[in-house]
Order: sequence, then structure tokens, then C-alpha cells
Amino acid sequence: MGRLILVSNRLPVILDQGADGLSARVAAGGLATGLSGPHQRSGGRWIGWPGVTSPDGTLTAEMHQVLAAKAMDGIGLTAEQHERYYTHISNRCLWPLFHYFPERVHFDAEDWKAYQEVNHRFAEVVLEKVQPDDLVFVQDFHLTLLPGLLRLAMPQLRIGFFLHIPFPSSEIFRIFAEREAVLDGILGADMVGFHTLAYVRHFRSAVSRLLGAETRSTEVQYHGRRIRLLAQPLGIDPEDWQGDTGGADVEQQMKELRAAAAGRRIILGVERLDYTKGVPERLRAFGELLSQEPGLVDEIMMIQIAVPSRVEAEEYRDLKNEVDRIAGDINSRHGRPGLQALHYQYRGVPPHVLRALYRIADVCLVTPLRDGLNLVAKEFVASRSEDSGVLVLSENIGAAWELGEALRVNPYDPAAMVACLRQALAMPLAEQRARMQPMRMRVERATVHVWAENCIDAIASAQQGSAPPLLEPQDKLNLDQEWLAAERRTLFLDYDGTLREFTDRPEQARPTTEVLELLGALSEAPATAVWVISGRPAPLLQEWLGATGVGLIAEHGAFLRRPGDTEFCSLLGQFPLDWKHEVRALMEEFAARVPGSRIEEKPLGIAWHYREANAELAVWQARELYQHLEETLTDQGLEVQRGSRVVEVRPAAVSKGRAALEVLQIAAPLSGMIGTGTGTPYDASHLLLALGDDRTDESMFRSLPASAWTVLVGSRGSSARWRLPDPAAARSLLASMPVSSPTA
Ligand code: UDP
Ligand code: G6P
Repeated sequence: MGRLILVSNRLPVILDQGADGLSARVAAGGLATGLSGPHQRSGGRWIGWPGVTSPDGTLTAEMHQVLAAKAMDGIGLTAEQHERYYTHISNRCLWPLFHYFPERVHFDAEDWKAYQEVNHRFAEVVLEKVQPDDLVFVQDFHLTLLPGLLRLAMPQLRIGFFLHIPFPSSEIFRIFAEREAVLDGILGADMVGFHTLAYVRHFRSAVSRLLGAETRSTEVQYHGRRIRLLAQPLGIDPEDWQGDTGGADVEQQMKELRAAAAGRRIILGVERLDYTKGVPERLRAFGELLSQEPGLVDEIMMIQIAVPSRVEAEEYRDLKNEVDRIAGDINSRHGRPGLQALHYQYRGVPPHVLRALYRIADVCLVTPLRDGLNLVAKEFVASRSEDSGVLVLSENIGAAWELGEALRVNPYDPAAMVACLRQALAMPLAEQRARMQPMRMRVERATVHVWAENCIDAIASAQQGSAPPLLEPQDKLNLDQEWLAAERRTLFLDYDGTLREFTDRPEQARPTTEVLELLGALSEAPATAVWVISGRPAPLLQEWLGATGVGLIAEHGAFLRRPGDTEFCSLLGQFPLDWKHEVRALMEEFAARVPGSRIEEKPLGIAWHYREANAELAVWQARELYQHLEETLTDQGLEVQRGSRVVEVRPAAVSKGRAALEVLQIAAPLSGMIGTGTGTPYDASHLLLALGDDRTDESMFRSLPASAWTVLVGSRGSSARWRLPDPAAARSLLASMPVSSPTA
């Protein structure tokens, strides 16, 4: 499969150039745990910043050597680059914005230049190391431009990107000055991963609104490529936490903690000291509970571990002062000599202490104001081998989606925080177990290894829907051979954009003499059924093409008229149309707002066309209309399509794919073209050729058997096997088919 090239801001080791020489510390973390296996097995590289800066932004030969021994490549940065790219853009723009703190964003164009520069620097190193069949997996918000830079340099490279923080609502994201650049950079990847479906939805909506790219539930079409969106929450390695992992050290630590608690129950909080984590709010809730019930101080205590983080930034230093003050206040008001209400530690703890804390705590409070996922919650759950203990989760964190049995709380609501603490402390053991056990099973199954495997599989397979290769002369020779050898042939031809070029006004796209003669000749070919399969209304197709002898499928597969007939029949049966009032009213508003746009009523659908409207205004409005309809209608069995300068709604059950299959069932007996063959429409003697340019043609490409000749007219991502550049090339392909008798 090729090697795995991992790229992240931080490497899983940190280098220190101390007085005693160079040392390398392991920076253990979820990511390192999950990706180190695949990294080693694939013989790949891990590229990142090893934690040192230098005046010229380079690393020493010794540093390179130490890292190379671990299959890593270090990127050196100057102190200024590091400050602008990491502290400023990453931690003072993207971090607060993506966590819904827009008032904390400080954007500066010079910083942005450095962010671009460092992303370029990463790209250079990746390009030095990468081989064409490698798979590159880029991590997190520090490197949003990197996938795009790699794509430009190596269009065929397989690239994945995972965002470990939330992707915010598009209303928040659009505040960022360089929003288009960030989206464009991320969309250089083939696969973009997030922790939750909500983040996927937000990303899709930002891409659709800000870039106008076409999106479907887990897919984006952008610059002719299909990008797959994946919701795959990061997991942990449960073996690090469960049972008696850690041995005697952990036991000893638990003993000491029990002694210090002196029979009191323990409430635990663990995190980096970050304003997203809601530490002041949590401590205040604890203080408030003790104020309401002073006697509780003899029954409960709280341990808050706050790991110093990003201390170079002012807001983190301010936060530390605030938390120091609140902690001091709680202890001075509620403690007494020999009895501390709150044990607050501004320092990380070694793994055996963390294990002991997770095992001994009665309640674990994971109440960030916002968090992409939160591994602490999962580690606590995995540590509870007896299934006792209570997990309290903020509803604003990714892990809340997976750990539904936890108590959920709104961390911005002080009264709810206190009430939730009370509920946690009062929970009977049986309920604790009933809640914890299913969570533990889930955390044990959805491990970090599963996360890594699924992400890597998704990257490896993502390119399968990208632009197909051009139909080359050699392919045409093969097609001719199959054509001549076939006992019968069925052709499905889209009209606008395939047989005929688009025109400014849809009614101007009448068939030319060339098109009419071509269709006439093809349908006269022996044992050849030709179907024009279009989004156009039935009467118009009948008027334009009725005399050519082809079969007609109108309105994207809703109506069918057999060759030689004059009447259409419906392929859908009864479908309620009451939704049309609501959609029409909405489209009328848009039509009034966008001069030159208009509504088209069809028997089963309704469309808003804006080909003749002012492009800038219309495109913006079309994005809004599409987004709104997509979010509100799809659960009513309706489909919203964004075609070429048109937004259209119609029943989802109508599709060109379904209609094509229907034709294959009925066409042969009707036209008397089946010889004495097997009668199945798919046998090898039946040649199928389908040409289309639009999104609506994809269902046709997908529903035909793999042996069918499916050809996209255009150059976007598609399920078709080949592509041709334009309608002229499509017509010339059809005109050059060797029209002769079938062999059988
Ligand atoms: N952690 C740590 N040292 C400590 C306390 C916590 O290494 O003293 C680890 C903890 O085990 C968890 C990680 O830090 O794996 C925090 O990850 P999380 O997803 O909860 O938050 P993040 O810091 O990534 O925002
Ligand atoms: C979050 C981010 C990571 C980051 C970590 C620690 O989990 O998603 O990318 O590495 O915080 O932050 P730091 O700034 O110390 O790398």
C-alpha cells in the first residue's frame, strides 16, 4: 500500500539541548499511541517540529540523527516563526475561533504570512521524503494549508487530514479573515476526518457557503476531485488504563491518596490549563456546593490537576492567575487546618499517579466549555474495572456523542453545574454500574487503533471517486471491438451538456441538425436501443427529439416513452406533492431577490434557474437556498440537486439510475431485440454505453453493471470509468461507432 507519512506540528518526541547535551523525551499522547504502530509497520516517516527553535531555523546534524533513528524528520523553526505560526495564528486565532471564543481572536496579516511560510516549509520536507505511492496523513489545525500545497505539487498523492478540535458552525468560521484559504488548503486532502458528525456538517456547510463547492452527506466535490468526509472519534488504548496496569506503583499511589482523602469521596478534574476547559466554572460550582452545604466538606474533596500549557501566551497566564485565586478562595473559605477542601495542582502528573487518580475518584468532572473530543473522559471510563464511579460530561464536547450514559451538563449554567454535582454524589451504586458498563464496553471497542485503521483505510480508498481517466484511442478500439461483438446494445445519453452544449437560455438549446442526424443514425443501427435520459420535461423532449426514433426518459427518470411511442408513462407511481407549496413560496422569494432568475414547475419537481442572473449575487443566493433546502427537506423523501446554474427539488426515489435499470428490464422484449440469449439484461453479449455530464448522471453510472462503458463528459470526480472533455468529443465518439450488424 505504500508507506505512511505522518505530519503533525509536534513530533512524538521533544528534543532538549541542555548543558549535558542533547536529550529526547517521549511526548506520549493519544496520537502517538494510535499512529506509532502503523508508522512502524509501514516503514514510513513522522515529520514535525521537535520543540526547538534556532536563530536560522535549522536543526543540528546531531538532532537530525537522533530523530532519524526513530524514523522521524524534524522541522526547525526560528523563534519568530514559531511565535507567529504557533502562538499567534494557531493558538490565538484558530484555536479560540474553532472553540467558539471569537472575542479572543487576534488576527495579524504578518502572522498569517508566517503561518503560510511554515506550512510551505512542512510541504518542502514532506516532498523531499515522500514517494508517489505513499500515503500522507496530516494532523490538526496548525497545518491546514499543507494538504493543498502537497496536492499542487503532486496531484496524484494520497493525502488525509484530521482535525482534532471542533469544526465550528459556519457562522463562526466565516469570521476568520483567511477562511477561504483554510478551506481550500484542507480540501487538498482526499479524506478529511473529524471527531463527530456535527463537525462534518459544519465543515460541509462552510465549504458550500464560502467556496460554493458541491457537497453531499460525506463528500465534497472540489476542483474536479471528490473529497471524502469522515466522522471517526479518536480512541484510547484501553490496555494502558484497565485492570492492574501500572502494578505496584499505582497501588502505592492509591494508598497514599486514600490516606489523604481521609474517608472523603473524591471529585476529580484533569486537563491542560486552557480557557476552553472550563476550570474556573467547575471550581466555582464546587465552591458553591460547599457554600450551600458547609457540612459536605467532611464528606467530599476535589482534586484538580491543571497541566501548564502554552504559557507563552498572555491569556493562559491570566487564566492561571484566575484559577489560583479561585482555588485559594475555596480553601480559605471552606477548609480548616488539616482539612483541605480542594487539592489544586498546577503541574502534570506521571502516568502512575494519573492511573491511581482515575481509579480512586468517585466522580470525574469533564466539563469543558468546548472540546473537540476529550480523552480524559475515555481514560477515566477505561480505568473503572468495577464499573463504579460517575462521569459528568459537558454537552459541548465531542466525547459526549459517544458516552451517552454519562451525566450531561451545560457548563455555562452555574446552577445546573451544582445540581449535576449533587446528582453525581447521590447516585446509587447500581445506577453507576448501569451507566458505566456500556460506556466502558464502547471505549474498549473503539480504540485508538481502530481510529487509525479506519482513517488510513479511508485515505487509501478515497480517490476512487475522483475524475476518471480520459477515454484514449486504445480504449476506443476496445469499445469498437465490444460493439461489433455484442448481440445487442443499449445507449443512455444525457442531453444538455452531453449531446448538446449549454446555452444562455435553456430553450435555446434545441437540437442541432448534427444531433438529430446522429440520434437518427444510431437508433437505426441494428439491435441498438438508444435512450435520451434528461432532466427536461416530457413534452419538450417529445417536441425536440420525438421524431428521431430514440426512447425518451424525462425529468431525471420520472417519465419514460418507448421508442416509436408518443405517450409517456410515469415510473414513480403516486408521490405526494404537498411539499411543493412550501418550496415554491421559498423559491419565489429568491426569484424576487435575484433579478433574472426564474422558477420552473415540473410535474414532479420544482427548480430555480439563475443562468441569466447577475452571477455573483445569484451564486451566493443559490448556496443559501441549497443549504436551506438540503437541511430541511431530505428527511421527506426529497432530493435537492444543484445542477448547472439551477437548484432543483424532486422526489429522491426518482433517479436516472433507477430509470436506466427499468429500461434494461423492459427494453429488450419491447423492441424485440433479444435474440435467443439468456434474457438477462446484463450478460456479456449486451453492450451498455452511458454518457452524461451532470451530478444526476452519477446514479446512472453507479447503477449500471461494472462492464458498462460509462463516460463522463467534463472533468470532475465521477463514478464513470472514462471521461471525454466536452459535448463535441461525445458526439464525435458516437458518430464514429462502427454501425454494422451484430454478430449473432
Ligand atoms: N495528561 C497527561 N499528563 C497529565 C494529565 C493528563 O499527559 O498530567 C494527558 C491525559 O492522559 C490525556 C491528555 O493529557 O491523554 C489530554 O487529552 P485531552 O483530549 O483530554 O485534551 P487536550 O489536552 O488534547 O486538549
Ligand atoms: C490539542 C490539539 C493538539 C495539541 C494539544 C496540546 O489536543 O488538538 O494538536 O498538540 O492540544 O497542545 P500544544 O499546543 O501543547 O501542542
